[in-house]
Amino acid sequence: MTDRIPIPVELVNKVVSECGLSSIGRASIREIKKLVDCLEQASGQRFVRMEMGIPGLPASAIGVEAQIDALNKGVASLYPDIQGLPELKDEMARFVKLFINIQVKPEGCIPTVGSMQGSFASFMTVNRMKEGKNKTLFIDPGFPVHKQQLKIIGLEYRSFDVYNYRGQALRNKLEELLTDETVSSILYSNPNNPAWICLTEEELSIIAEVAQKHDLVVIEDLAYFGMDFRKDYSRPGQPPFQPSISHFYDKYILLISSSKVFSYAGERIGMLVISDALFNTQAPDLKKYYGTDNFGHAFIYGTMYALSSGTAHSPQHALAALLKAVNDGKYNFVDYVKEYGEKAAVMKKIFTDNGFHIVYDKDLDEPIADGFYFTFSYPGFSGTQLLEKLVYYGISAISLSITGSERTEGIRACVSLVGRDQFPDLEYRLRRFHEDHKSLVK
Ligand SMILES: Cc1ncc(COP(=O)(O)O)c(C=O)c1O
Repeated sequence: MTDRIPIPVELVNKVVSECGLSSIGRASIREIKKLVDCLEQASGQRFVRMEMGIPGLPASAIGVEAQIDALNKGVASLYPDIQGLPELKDEMARFVKLFINIQVKPEGCIPTVGSMQGSFASFMTVNRMKEGKNKTLFIDPGFPVHKQQLKIIGLEYRSFDVYNYRGQALRNKLEELLTDETVSSILYSNPNNPAWICLTEEELSIIAEVAQKHDLVVIEDLAYFGMDFRKDYSRPGQPPFQPSISHFYDKYILLISSSKVFSYAGERIGMLVISDALFNTQAPDLKKYYGTDNFGHAFIYGTMYALSSGTAHSPQHALAALLKAVNDGKYNFVDYVKEYGEKAAVMKKIFTDNGFHIVYDKDLDEPIADGFYFTFSYPGFSGTQLLEKLVYYGISAISLSITGSERTEGIRACVSLVGRDQFPDLEYRLRRFHEDHKSLVK
């Protein structure tokens, strides 16, 4: 199916205008997805789709079976408790003990409608704890929807690209952005979407130190839990443990998505873990919005109640069963997703063999690890221009410019949906692209 590459300009232009997009390069992830669905249909070409972080592996059977079983037993007609099923809360507390080596009471372990709801609920509650302290600081590049969540509830944010502030340099950069004391919280993902940077324990301890000084809540997004495949974080109760802010600081919220690690994106269930210290914090200004000044109570019976009155019943049973198998050492969830790292290694080579560069190429002084995402550029193009050009070659991704990255030449590629059977196509298309553009490279 490679014979009609590049796709004719007129066809692409027609579909872009039918989708109502003014620029491909600035489109959101979901807009690109919609555009590529339409382009595949109009051109008859299967795209090499790297735009959206959809798990490319089947959902774990342990979860699916437990969910079907729960439905057969009649849970669909019953409202779940907002705070979550007791057996799920217990397994969540066990999971963080066994894989992060931290102690959190089950009361602070709350299932959410995807980690997406977890961040939304966190922003809403954390930014109301203290009058005037109502901004979130993002350690970027990051997941664009988080900023969208703040915008739609009228809250502000700050951000900076961490690439030039790794290690000890992080402290001063954070201080610079926190001095006016209007920031309530810091959010970062680790491993990082999109750059796959992995913050070290030293950097996490710096974040903790600064958070303590400015009385901040740290929201740690562990959507890619255990997926820094350079270390084996898969053995319950045995080091090494997933690096985490919780090793250094006591006011945190951990967001642990089950979308990628358990390939359970479709059921929209995630884990949110509030530290005991934060759960029990009294913040008088919460009373303006909630009937209580207690953080944990406001979070569950105020925010979560108002948002969705808890998380659907049957996926909670699925997650409880999955976690139990993982905690008991019967299911190695990290082994299952290693395929992503292996594919990334091959795909990165196909890109670099054809004139492309890896943008975020270093993790401190090591080469960046192979994981769920990687970033690339092509000499002479901005990220938005390159994204538009690649569409004609049947390749889709997202521009780094929507992620808070300062590397405007870059594009994020997600490896999950690209089948190994598409590697020859990817190779062919990138070679064609390179042949058509290398004369422009200075
Ligand atoms: C960094 C990050 N956080 C959160 C999410 C959303 O997770 P969920 O599917 O659990 O809502 C994603 C999904 O791509 C992500 O990459």
